Amino acid sequence: MGAVEPATVAVRTEGGSYPVVIGAGVRHRLPGVIAGLRAGRVALVSARPEEWLPDTGVPTTVIRLEDGERGKTLSAVEALCERFAEIGLSRADAVVSCGGGSTTDLVGLAAALYHRGVPVVHLPTTLLAQVDASVGGKTGVNLRQGKNLVGTYWQPAAVLCDQEFLSTLPQRELASGYGELARCHFIGEPGLYRLPLAEQVRRSVALKARVVELDERDSGLRHVLNYGHTLGHALETATGFELRHGEAVAIGTVFAGRLAGVLGRITADRVAEHRDVVASYRLPVDVPAGLGADELIGLMRRDKKATRGLTFVLDGPSGAELVHEVPEEAVRTALSTG
Ligand code: GLY
Repeated sequence: MGAVEPATVAVRTEGGSYPVVIGAGVRHRLPGVIAGLRAGRVALVSARPEEWLPDTGVPTTVIRLEDGERGKTLSAVEALCERFAEIGLSRADAVVSCGGGSTTDLVGLAAALYHRGVPVVHLPTTLLAQVDASVGGKTGVNLRQGKNLVGTYWQPAAVLCDQEFLSTLPQRELASGYGELARCHFIGEPGLYRLPLAEQVRRSVALKARVVELDERDSGLRHVLNYGHTLGHALETATGFELRHGEAVAIGTVFAGRLAGVLGRITADRVAEHRDVVASYRLPVDVPAGLGADELIGLMRRDKKATRGLTFVLDGPSGAELVHEVPEEAVRTALSTG
């Protein structure tokens, strides 16, 4: 990815308004952000090596953790809050997260709960976290029964998406971020996949900001951001997180196209477009062999959106929308279509 001039996308919600700054080296803006918050000290929770951590400008305690969905547990939230208490962190201080989406989810939740809420600044270091997880205020951890089943909304005070972090990513991790970009083609950014990656990041964040501003708490429109996620989350759980989030969303996006086709909501060409867009990112398009429809359907019934039967965000004549009470037979048919 080439260097980009920093760009700022503003997010304005009832829960808080903040800038998302995107560009090479923007992590070094952290002291200005912390000074703006008038935070006396910082707990910097990081999954990245010391040399990548920017100065905060105030006394700082670095707390180490590892990225990964398996570490997104309620006991990890408790451990973080205990560390905050041990160092005497107060509401006049701030928490900074530095890592992938699992880190911003976990640290965001700990910041939301500790002292009933302390300011948090995210430094997302993966493509996936930059284009989605760190923006919009969703925080959460997993239960054995499924992904992100416990969490809250806690808007960050700022998000600094430093493109230099992306150069450190293993190819598979970078590819995982493409899954969130691929779905943008179907939810308001058609043709995104044809643009330079830096512009894709900016547009994806801007798309998310527009949606979150209109529906911060997922009561309607925000569900479109979950395009491909119903099956995606089920695949992550069923594979014990062997599939990365973006890979699972990629497969879920192709599946959402197939299901919309089975239900007669879109044409065969549009179904094929789902596969083509996802494949253009060199992402997986098919459910891995060995995963049974019964297990996946059981997991999808526990999805947070599934308040009235099997529920998916599906493309249709009016664009992507939430569709409840999808017949199980249609889901089985779409799952069996490769
Ligand atoms: N990742 C989907 C959302 O933030 O709503």
